[in-house]
Amino acid sequence: MCGIVGFIGKEEAAPILLDGLARLEYRGYDSAGLAVFGEEKGLQVVKSKGRLQALSDLTKAGSTIQGTAGMGHTRWATHGVPSDVNAHPQASESGRFAVIHNGIIENFAEIKEFLQNQGVKFSSQTDTEVAANLLDYLYEGDLLEAVSKMLHRIRGAYAFGIICADCPDMLVGVRKDSPLILGHGEGFNFFASDVTAIIKYTREVSYLDNDEIAVITREGTQVYDSYLQPVKKERHHVDWEVSAAEKGGYAHFMLKEVMEQPEALRKTISPRLQNGQVKLDDLHFDVQYLKAMDKIYIIACGSSYHVGMAAKYTLEKLLHKPVEVALASEFRYCEPLVSEHTLAIVISQSGETIDTLTAMREAKRLGARVLSIVNVVGSTIARESDDVIYTWAGPEIAVATTKAYSTQLAVTYLIGLAFAQMMGTIEKEEYEAIVNELQLLPEKLQKVLEQREAIQYFASLYFNHSSIFFIGRHLDYAVGMEGSLKLKEISYIHSEAYAAGELKHGTISLIEDGTLVVALASYKPLFEKMMSNVIEVKSRGADVIGLTTEDVGPEMMKTVDHIITVPDTHPMLLPSLDVVPLQLFAYYVALQRGCDIDKPRNLAKSVTVE
Ligand code: G6P
Repeated sequence: MCGIVGFIGKEEAAPILLDGLARLEYRGYDSAGLAVFGEEKGLQVVKSKGRLQALSDLTKAGSTIQGTAGMGHTRWATHGVPSDVNAHPQASESGRFAVIHNGIIENFAEIKEFLQNQGVKFSSQTDTEVAANLLDYLYEGDLLEAVSKMLHRIRGAYAFGIICADCPDMLVGVRKDSPLILGHGEGFNFFASDVTAIIKYTREVSYLDNDEIAVITREGTQVYDSYLQPVKKERHHVDWEVSAAEKGGYAHFMLKEVMEQPEALRKTISPRLQNGQVKLDDLHFDVQYLKAMDKIYIIACGSSYHVGMAAKYTLEKLLHKPVEVALASEFRYCEPLVSEHTLAIVISQSGETIDTLTAMREAKRLGARVLSIVNVVGSTIARESDDVIYTWAGPEIAVATTKAYSTQLAVTYLIGLAFAQMMGTIEKEEYEAIVNELQLLPEKLQKVLEQREAIQYFASLYFNHSSIFFIGRHLDYAVGMEGSLKLKEISYIHSEAYAAGELKHGTISLIEDGTLVVALASYKPLFEKMMSNVIEVKSRGADVIGLTTEDVGPEMMKTVDHIITVPDTHPMLLPSLDVVPLQLFAYYVALQRGCDIDKPRNLAKSVTVE
């Protein structure tokens, strides 16, 4: 949700900023802009509606703006339509300040009115321009004083990058609830929304905390709290390769990330399995706590929420404790029944989703202990939770998640197994059977990926449909929800996921001749019940693609039009295999429709507004 990057060093800033923005474009891509301070021309601001390419063309790859200190922004519009004038950076009326911003200033309207009463004129509809003018208004010759005063006047979530024409040798970065990191180099330094923007230049980073102000100069960085008291920051070394954030020969990041899933699963599972035992060294739970637990609340958004839907079935079965799955955006406002015996499992790829973060804080406030499942190391959710277990999916760039979803699922199995063993709620044989199958998952997933061409063929048959249904029962239903979301996100085809047994209570009225129904029937205990539902939609003219395990594939093929099979595994682990054909189906449908797969319209990968 908006990407920001700032650079100060000895080299020309604009090309470095454009390169950083290209890696942040997944956070927003409706407009982009640069502010660079040059000795000759002072503070220059250039911005453009549309993709980053438009800005790059406008500035001839950055060569038309000279200066060695600057900052760039790629936008996902909140206040004001995507346009040149609403793009960031936003300058104050006097031109003294340029500001880039990720987040929302909630009380912007009252501040704007106040400033207008002082005679300030605004040219955009953004809340960011309000921040730029507020800074200018509060400025009495000391930049940090003005920033500190501004922080005490505004409410909301934000990461700001600030340049002041009076202080050309420094950039200022500020954050509250939206991510901002510092990148440390020799003679140059950065701030950025995330590591991908700067990894080409430095692997030494530190993470800003809420209400901290960072001053970035060529020589170093200094962090202060909002009252301008110095704060010491720990440095971290990022050890993944630059290539992890590049397409590596694939047409799209999404396809690359789908194909990386066996490896991502291996990295997530293997280090946590030792001699047939799940070892979660990252967690610190004792058996008394687990036994006294009154319930588990899973809190997440989007695909992470769908992981929660699947985890509900497996955790309830393994732990014999009630599991409630809550949409993070609802949780805060539904007076959740949480006690000090409640465990909140918070799932988030980015670790920055504001709905999830605020719900997590609410769960904590109500007394819950928080265990988070997060992909981005050092992210806010990871840092604020009591325990964190990382998915080792590597950087995920495509807006539609694939490998992060898969690794999150895997972590829920590991947590379930580890807790069940501690609590004595699982038989030894069952435990061993699941662990065995868990080890085989990456290999089996590889076999599923080998069916790419068949899935591409099915996509070519149905890509021009206007509505597609996914039905399933139990775990198959949870996976169907993710398959349906993937399709909607990247192909813009209307789609619904339905619990197969519920279809007849209303939605079946939408089934007509040629409607495509993807029927998931891999959960064996409900295979026959599921087939009855398949027959119901077939009798009303639907075309059905069946998705089930290899052993029951021939049986299902007798009723459906097409079949996709996955290797058999322990029933609990089936979602990990079933989801992959659905990811590929969505991908190839979107490809056929000529959609912008990695950057679907209206979406952003990391959503830092409520
Ligand atoms: C956004 C993304 C979704 C993602 C959701 C939750 O809406 O477009 O793909 O599932 O956020 O993100 P998180 O980082 O918290 O898992």
